[in-house]
Parts: sequence; C-alpha cells; structure tokens
Amino acid sequence: MAVRDSGYLLFGLVVLFHTWGALAVEVNMEDRVEVFIDDMAQLTCKFTSEEGIGGMMIQWFYMTPAGEKQKIYYQDSTMKVVDRGTPFTDRISVNGTGAEGEVVLTIRDVQQRDEVEFICLVKSLTDGIAEGRTKLKVFALPDSPTIEGVQTGISINEASPPKIGICEVKNGFPRPNITWYKNNTPLHNIPGEVRLVPSTTSESSGLYSVTSELYMKLVKEDKDNYFYCEVTYFVPGAKMMVETNRINVTVLYPSTAVKVWVESPKGEIKEGDTVEIHCSGNGNTAAEIKITHRDNETSTEDGVLVMKSVTRAHSGVYFCSSMDLYTYEEVSGNTTVFVNFLDDAVVEPERIMEVAQGEEVKATCNALSSLQTHTTWLKNGKEVSKGHILTLEATFDTAGTYVCVVSVPEIEGMTTSETLRINVQGPPEILEPVSTEIEESFDSTVDLSCDVRGFPAPTIVWSTSDGKILPTTSQEETDEGVHSVVSVRVTSDMIAFCNASNVYGTDAMAFSIKAIKADTAIPAKTVPKEGKGVIIAVIIICILLLAVLGSVLYFLYKKGKICGRSGKQDLTKEKSNKDNIVVEMKSDNTEEAVLLGVNGEKLPPSDQ
Ligand SMILES: *[C@@H]1O[C@H](CO)[C@@H](O)[C@H](O)[C@H]1NC(C)=O
Ligand SMILES: *[C@@H]1O[C@H](CO)[C@@H](O)[C@H](O)[C@H]1NC(C)=O
Ligand SMILES: *[C@@H]1O[C@H](CO)[C@@H](O)[C@H](O)[C@H]1NC(C)=O
Ligand SMILES: *[C@@H]1O[C@H](CO)[C@@H](O)[C@H](O)[C@H]1NC(C)=O
Ligand SMILES: *[C@@H]1O[C@H](CO)[C@@H](O)[C@H](O)[C@H]1NC(C)=O
Ligand SMILES: *[C@@H]1O[C@H](CO)[C@@H](O)[C@H](O)[C@H]1NC(C)=O
Repeated sequence: MAVRDSGYLLFGLVVLFHTWGALAVEVNMEDRVEVFIDDMAQLTCKFTSEEGIGGMMIQWFYMTPAGEKQKIYYQDSTMKVVDRGTPFTDRISVNGTGAEGEVVLTIRDVQQRDEVEFICLVKSLTDGIAEGRTKLKVFALPDSPTIEGVQTGISINEASPPKIGICEVKNGFPRPNITWYKNNTPLHNIPGEVRLVPSTTSESSGLYSVTSELYMKLVKEDKDNYFYCEVTYFVPGAKMMVETNRINVTVLYPSTAVKVWVESPKGEIKEGDTVEIHCSGNGNTAAEIKITHRDNETSTEDGVLVMKSVTRAHSGVYFCSSMDLYTYEEVSGNTTVFVNFLDDAVVEPERIMEVAQGEEVKATCNALSSLQTHTTWLKNGKEVSKGHILTLEATFDTAGTYVCVVSVPEIEGMTTSETLRINVQGPPEILEPVSTEIEESFDSTVDLSCDVRGFPAPTIVWSTSDGKILPTTSQEETDEGVHSVVSVRVTSDMIAFCNASNVYGTDAMAFSIKAIKADTAIPAKTVPKEGKGVIIAVIIICILLLAVLGSVLYFLYKKGKICGRSGKQDLTKEKSNKDNIVVEMKSDNTEEAVLLGVNGEKLPPSDQ
C-alpha cells in the first residue's frame, strides 16, 4: 500500500515539473532505417526545445561492435565538424541548422558494416540533454540461386539417404534461407529419410553465400518427381522469394518382376523357325538375366535368346531369372513355348503298287502333326481326291503317279508330300495315233510314234511288212506304259508295224506310208528340202525365159514388124510398103499364127 502511494506521488511531481516551464529537450527518431548497400541512407533527428537554436549543440554517434559510443559529428551555432578517422569521415554530411527542429544525417555509399546503431544527441544550455537512436539496416540482393542434381543414377537401395543435389545462393544480406521442395512439398529433416545440410559462408564483402545439400532416400516413383529450391531473402520493407529450376534425378530401381515372352514368330511356331525369346525386368539397374530350359541355361546380356531351326525338343517352359548386380536379389518369370511339327507323309500299303486291271485300289497317306492336317491327292497336278484315303478302280486310265499333299491349314507353308505309283497290270494297248495313212515324198524321212499302255512295260518292235526290223530311234517309259519313236526313210510305198508285247499279251498298229514323187509334190508341207530347191530353180529359169521373150517381142513391136489384133487398122493405114500384104494375110489367123508369121517372115504363106 505504501509503495503504491509513493508511486503516485512521484508521477505527480514529474507532471508538475513539466507543466511549470522548466521543460526538458525531446529527441525523436525512427527505430530503423533500411537501405540497399551502395545506396544513400538518411537518418532524421527531430527535436523540440524551448531554447533557441543559439544555445543548442548536436552530436552524432554510432555504437561500435564492442558496445562503445563513438562520436562522428559535432555541430553548434558556430561550427559543424565531421570527426576525423572514423569509418564515416568521408561519407557523411548533416544538413539543416536545427532551426526547424530537425537535422538529417546522410550516409553515402552504405556498406554492410554500416549496419550499426546511430545516436543523435541534443544538448540545451537551459533544458538539459536528450538523445535518440536509429538502427541502420542494410540489404544486398543475392545472385540468382543455382541448383545441381547428382548426375549419376541413384539407387533406391542405399543404406543411408543418398545425396540428391545442392542449391546455392551467393552474396545476399542478410543471410538468405534455402528450402528444398519435392514437387510442391517443402522438405524437412527426417532422421534416416531426409537430411538437409546447410552451410553459410561469409564473403570478404561481408555478404553471405548459402548452400544447402539434400540427402534423401528415394523410391521408384521418384523417377517422375522433380526437386527444386526456394530462396527467401529480405529487402527494405519486404521479404522476397525466388525459385531455382526443377531437376530430375535418375532413380535406379531393381526389378521386382520379370516378363518373358516369345518375340518372334508371332503366332504358332513350327519346326525350322527361328525363335526369339525376350525377357525383361521392370527395373532399371544392371542385372544378370538367365534364360533356362530343361537345365539348359543361357546367360544373356540383353535378355534375348535366339534359337535357330527349332525342333519339337525346344518345346517347354522357359524360365527367366534376373539377378540384380547390386542387391543380388533375384526375380523370375516363365513362358511356355510349343513348337508345332509335321512329320513326313507316309503312304500305305506301299509307294509303288502293282494291281490287276479292275481291282479295287485303297491307299492311305498320313503325316503325324501337332495340329489338324488336311490331305489331298493330286494326279498330273490336278486334285483327284480329298482326305487321307484314296480309293479307285484299277484301269489304264487310273494308272499313274499320285501325289498326296498333307498340309496344316493353321500355319502357312507347313506342308509335306509323298508319291504313290499305281501300275495296272494288263496286255499292251496301243493308243490310236492321229493318222496311220501317211503320204510322204520319195526319199524323205518320216517319224512314226507309238504310245502303248500296259504293265509290265511292253516291249516294242518296229518292223516293215516284208519282215524287216526297223531300229527304234527313241523310247521312254511313261506313267502309263511306253512311248516309242522310229524314223523311216521313204523309198517306196510301205507299211510299218509297231508291235507291243508283255506277259499279258500283244498289240500291233500298222502305219501305211505312200511315197509320192518330188516333182508333183507341190504341197510345201510334205516336200523334202532337196525337192524345194529344184522347184525354186525351175521357177527362176521360167521367169528368165519369159523376160527374154518379152524383150524380143517389145523390140519387134518397135520396129513395126508385128501387129496385134487391136492395132491392125492403124498399121495398115500408116504403112504402105509390101509387108502389108503379109500382115493382111495373117490377120485372120490366131495369135500363134501371127507369131509364127513374124518368126517365119520370109517363108511363103503357103508354108503355114
Ligand atoms: C538535406 O539535403 C538533402 C539532399 O542533400 C535534401 O534532399 C534534404 O531536403 C535536406 N534536408 C534539409 C532539412 O535541409
Ligand atoms: C522429370 O522426368 C519425368 C519423367 O521422365 C518428366 O515427366 C518430367 O517432366 C521431368 N520433370 C522435369 C522438371 O524435368
Ligand atoms: C531464415 O530462417 C530463419 C530461421 O527460421 C528465420 O529467422 C529468418 O527470418 C529466415 N530468413 C528469411 C530471409 O526468410
Ligand atoms: C541348349 O542351349 C543351346 C545353346 O543356347 C542351344 O543351342 C540348344 O538348342 C539348347 N537345347 C535345348 C534342348 O533347348
Ligand atoms: C510360371 O509363371 C506363372 C505366372 O506367370 C506362375 O503362376 C507359375 O507358377 C510359373 N510356373 C512355374 C513352373 O514356375
Ligand atoms: C507285227 O504285227 C503284225 C500284225 O499283227 C504281224 O503281221 C507281224 O508279223 C508282226 N511283226 C512282228 C515282227 O512280230
């Protein structure tokens, strides 16, 4: 109670003192002034006093880092003095006399070390002494911040958080702050997960350079994430923020699963194909990839196994294992390969059958395959039967070579074939030739051919009607029997026999050849070469003779020694010589007569 009372008493005294004229000096200053380095700072000192300016004294001080008050300026009504030897000596000036109740301390070229407290002290002869203080705050805009990510891949399996990158901002004041972001989330220290390592360097200029390293455990998804730094710094009257570029890091993650597949061929595989099996993990770290099939292990560098000319033995399950070379963890997968096959076709009962005429023939054709097959029988390139069984009645028409083709419709180019030869036993049968009546010019050569069906292959003998054997020119076995050719020189009309025989019987065919004379043999087709030459020569001689004859006639006509039936009148009128009589006499005769007349001009008319 006593303490409170004495307090009130003291307050009352002070109020009285002020009110009654004995007023003290008052100084007013801003708490702080903020400027950029290199700019100019102006510190205003306002004061009030009853005293006129004549009795006033103004002094400026600053507080040294050691906490001492250091005078830099003095002024009174008579003089203004800048103290020598202080850091401000050359850079300060004070304007105003103080008459308006304020003076301004101007500091040019502000430095970082100018960030101190300034004191304005005002002393009045009558009102006493008072001081005010202003803190000068200086600022430097930092350089653009930089970011650098770790260039090598970063494994997600590191024991402790690996380094992700470093951010740096240089020459800021006051000290800028760096904050790391992953995508849009700021990062903070989390033991064992995220570690931020900041460091600050004080440059000789007094400015700060700041770096921040980020260490962080990554997960696979971080491959798609980005990182950046945000830098905050103060400027006079504000707080600013600037961001770095975004960076990506290469995240290394081992496979957690592998995929194995047949890359080629697409679709069904058949024996002989080149098969390519691919295996790839879902990771991106170095791994050893092995592909195994029935204890047959193949290490591959790129997870590709190429097998050329596969057989059905290559069918089965293919395992692929991928072992990470860093963690030694292994993952595996498998795929099943099936190699389709089509064995050679087999014809039963046998490939060459001998059957009696009229007998029923039944043959089968089969090829073992992993897939459905389709069988057709062909004869002379034409399909004659579908399905694997061939049934037919043995005749000379059905005898011959059959091809059975077995194919797998599902796979193009998968096909096999086998032949079946059916020989139908029976006596020879000579096929009727185009013509057996042949006309040939004398001394020419004619080819006679004989097509014989029958099995066993008949023996062919060519002969003439007088029993002479003709040597066979050529002979070949055909599907159905034998084809035999003989060349005959035509010397006279003749008959040639083709006699065919085998164990079952005989057959014969007669060819009648008529020899015709070369002269009369005008038809070019059958005229032998020598004959043609003779004819051409004869024709040329005839033409020459006619030409000579023509010339002679023309010559005689010009001489007027001849007259045709048409020119008779003119000639008689023009010519009046004695020849006229001869001509007149001939005029009744035929052309031949005239010609004879001309030829035998001097003959007497009685001779004709
Ligand atoms: C002091 O000087 C500065 C420029 O030198 C001027 O802008 C300012 O108005 C002056 N102040 C007074 C009180 O004279
Ligand atoms: C980072 O990488 C991902 C995937 O490659 C990409 O989509 C994204 O745009 C990248 N981000 C940056 C900042 O480069
Ligand atoms: C920097 O961080 C410190 C501590 O969190 C804080 O006091 C200061 O104001 C920050 N500076 C900037 C420029 O954000
Ligand atoms: C076993 O591997 C070898 C080499 O890759 C290969 O040539 C062979 O065909 C394989 N055998 C089987 C049955 O897979
Ligand atoms: C093959 O892989 C499948 C999964 O793709 C799995 O279910 C199966 O057990 C594997 N087979 C063998 C024999 O390992
Ligand atoms: C060929 O057949 C004919 C007609 O049957 C016969 O006259 C002739 O003697 C036979 N020739 C031979 C060499 O057998």
